[in-house]
Amino acid sequence: MQTVTLSPNAIRVLEKRYLAKSAKGEVIETAEELFRRVAKNIAEADPHYNATEDPAKTEDAFYALMVSGRFLPNSPTLMNAGRELQQLSACFVLPVGDSICEIFDAVKQTAIIHKSGGGTGFSFSRLRPKDDLVRTTGGVSSGPVSFMSVFNHTTEAIKQGGTRRGANMGILRVDHPDILDFIHCKADTGKIINFNISVAITDEFMRAAREDKDYPLINPRTRETVKRLSARMVLDEIAKEAHATGEPGLFFVDVTNRTNPTPHVGEIEATNPCGEQPLLPYESCNLGSINLERHLKRIDDRYEIDWEALEGTIRTSVHFLDNVIDVNRYPIRQIEEITKANRKIGLGVMGFARMLFKLGVPYNCLDGLRVAQQVMAFVRRVGYEQSGQLAELRGVYPNWRGSLHEKRGQRVRNAYITTIAPTGTVSMIADTSGGCEPEFSLIWYKNVMDGEKLPYILDYLIEAAKREGFWSEDLLERIVKNKGSVNGIDQVPPEWQRVFVTAHEISPEWHVRMQAAFQEYSDSAVSKTINLPSDAGVEEVTKAYLLAYELGCKGITVYRDGARPDQVMNVGSFR
Ligand code: CDP
Repeated sequence: MQTVTLSPNAIRVLEKRYLAKSAKGEVIETAEELFRRVAKNIAEADPHYNATEDPAKTEDAFYALMVSGRFLPNSPTLMNAGRELQQLSACFVLPVGDSICEIFDAVKQTAIIHKSGGGTGFSFSRLRPKDDLVRTTGGVSSGPVSFMSVFNHTTEAIKQGGTRRGANMGILRVDHPDILDFIHCKADTGKIINFNISVAITDEFMRAAREDKDYPLINPRTRETVKRLSARMVLDEIAKEAHATGEPGLFFVDVTNRTNPTPHVGEIEATNPCGEQPLLPYESCNLGSINLERHLKRIDDRYEIDWEALEGTIRTSVHFLDNVIDVNRYPIRQIEEITKANRKIGLGVMGFARMLFKLGVPYNCLDGLRVAQQVMAFVRRVGYEQSGQLAELRGVYPNWRGSLHEKRGQRVRNAYITTIAPTGTVSMIADTSGGCEPEFSLIWYKNVMDGEKLPYILDYLIEAAKREGFWSEDLLERIVKNKGSVNGIDQVPPEWQRVFVTAHEISPEWHVRMQAAFQEYSDSAVSKTINLPSDAGVEEVTKAYLLAYELGCKGITVYRDGARPDQVMNVGSFR
């Protein structure tokens, strides 16, 4: 039996939240047993479609995929598969209707989802604005921002019963009358801490911003225009707030709906908490990420992408993620119905930056973009082929008729196949870089769970330095003093300084270009932070917004270094 080789950090993460525990809180499961439990549970969907299929064979394939670190599903699958909860999805979007009853239905549904480790996204755009008429009481409405704090309190109170705290995404359309309050709601109140916030940006708004025109604010209850604002002024307000605090993000809602595979089922108005998964109301999605660093072959002292291995991983991963939909236990009936009718899965990658290190290709150059496009085009093409094969065996997804896939003559099992998740925790378990992000530092610690700090040292840097002749005993110390970077350290040859580039040496423009490269082949969206240096001006934020829109991104989140005192990642000493 293949055994797992996990780093000490990975084992710590697993022990804290993932491995089964006794009533007394003792860990009663090994990492191998965890992967076995998950593989067995997810393979159970097979006989349902094909009685002759041997589920033990599938189980072994799924086990091998995870235990070798080639692929990991999202945290809820690792935590809950084959256990009492059996809630396997990370991403949910819930509708919020414009009545007390509908709002509190959504609050209750949020509590149920958070309890099981899922994160929820909402559009509050259908709520009437603050101070608008409430007919039944003759009073006035509190407005979207005020109701968001109710959801926030709910999240706070649930704290996910020992798994993890559910994240939320709150979205408001840019043409909602309360938009200015919303843009500043986290800074002003300091209270909505369990939410990420994003403004849903329309094409009309972007046109008005470009031409320096006004655009209308519309009361969703009456559909009447209540006011007009300068689009540039509003975009500037967003940029100023994002420059100061990292939020709000932008969600390009019209761009997203142009590639909505099932427009006949509904319009997309929101995303999951980290933004990579736009979903219809009540839809859920399970994610999984391929570790690119584990798909390299070594030829002498160089690395190449192992396309054959990658193809095998993609096929098994699509099979795995499609099975998850069937063995998943859905917390709410409406969620089960639409999730099973669209069968969206989110297959993506992690370890991209580490793969580039090993390929000797800098992140911030055309070659870096080319590798991203090549890899993601491959994941998407093989993913579609595999989803097509599943469709032959298991049928196309039930809402396929009338979909964009039908119009293109594409028979697939899943309405979305590819996505790029942040892989915040699973990349720690796989011991690689997160999603499609560059490394933040070559030596660092991560503040994780309950303020604990875990140190990381990049092994491959030592290997390359020894091989290329720039190793010395004090190199690591120098990198620490140089804020985790090799940039400007004399003994490191310039070409290796370029290869081992870190997030802060990459200009916002290259960050956006890389996001766009991944977006091109992601059916859903891409989780990515556009890092800005601490001395960047507000106009650089606006420039990044315009470029992201121009290049077809579905959203954008910027973060200026040092903007928040509690930022998750910090450059630091390892000693
Ligand atoms: O690595 P892991 O599977 O734990 O998750 P991720 O890739 O960092 O995040 C994927 C999605 O999980 C997010 O976009 C959220 O929808 C959800 N999530 C959450 O609800 N709460 C968290 N604390 C982390 C993630």
